[in-house]
Amino acid sequence: MQNIAVVTGASSGIGAATARRLAREGFHIVAAARRVDRLAALVEEIGAASATAVECDVTSDESVARMAATVTGLGAPVTVLVNNAGGARGVDPVAEGSVEDWQWMFDVNVLGVLRVTKALLPALEASGAGTIVTVGSTAAFTPYEGGGGYVAAKHGTTALVGTLRLELAGKPVRVIEIDPGMVQTDEFTLNRLDGDQARTDAVYAGVKEPLVAEDIADCIAWTATRPQHVNVDRLVVRPIAQAAQHKVHREL
Ligand SMILES: NC(=O)c1ccc[n+]([C@@H]2O[C@H](COP(=O)([O-])OP(=O)(O)OC[C@H]3O[C@@H](n4cnc5c(N)ncnc54)[C@H](OP(=O)(O)O)[C@@H]3O)[C@@H](O)[C@H]2O)c1
Repeated sequence: MQNIAVVTGASSGIGAATARRLAREGFHIVAAARRVDRLAALVEEIGAASATAVECDVTSDESVARMAATVTGLGAPVTVLVNNAGGARGVDPVAEGSVEDWQWMFDVNVLGVLRVTKALLPALEASGAGTIVTVGSTAAFTPYEGGGGYVAAKHGTTALVGTLRLELAGKPVRVIEIDPGMVQTDEFTLNRLDGDQARTDAVYAGVKEPLVAEDIADCIAWTATRPQHVNVDRLVVRPIAQAAQHKVHREL
């Protein structure tokens, strides 16, 4: 079997695009997420010989442990982990922030990365040439109004990634962070805005070409396929229409 690349949040958006792309790069994909029907369709598309679907909720220790056991049970070197599962809930100002939403965002975006990384690190290290790519966000370094919980969570993701890189110095595992700006995926903003399609459409209105999932998959694949001694610490990627978090060119 080919070397294994585990992709969390592979049931939609950036994760699904990354699974397709890394399969083309020659990896055996472990596609992990909660919605197994979508994972099954993805595996069928990629080809069952080159992909395995594994149900995994990154907010559950038990679920992550089961996923890791399945991965190691496949018997091939685990060389890539893409920590992509994540998301945002709400756009409330801090003064009205929902503790429940914030807890969810910390659990998925920070603790989820911790759980999955801990579970797969021994296998990544044992491969002798491991790569951990974590999907952060431009929210990881630029606050914006209404973004408090997501901004704080993605700052937490970055803190985890930066610490891990230091702690793994001398070990055969590189640690990479991809920070996308505005990416138009089917579900990210729709979920954040509680299914409100009109408000979702307004986020992307007049933006000529937002990034799409495949653009980020391309970045992930590029970093993960550099020679092993090359560690792209952090890659910030925005659409050309978004010069900065608050500077979005719209043609309305
Ligand atoms: N779209 C953007 O503008 C943008 C910008 C910067 C960064 N990002 C980041 O990029 C990543 C992917 O975003 P996307 O746009 O592709 O969003 P998306 O389409 O909403 O995908 C999110 C993925 O995360 C998975 N997920 C959510 N909760 C999970 C859980 N508890 N356990 C396991 N998987 C879980 C979902 O799968 P299930 O629901 O099936 O579990 C889904 O596959 C996220 O980390 C996001 O924060 C997105």
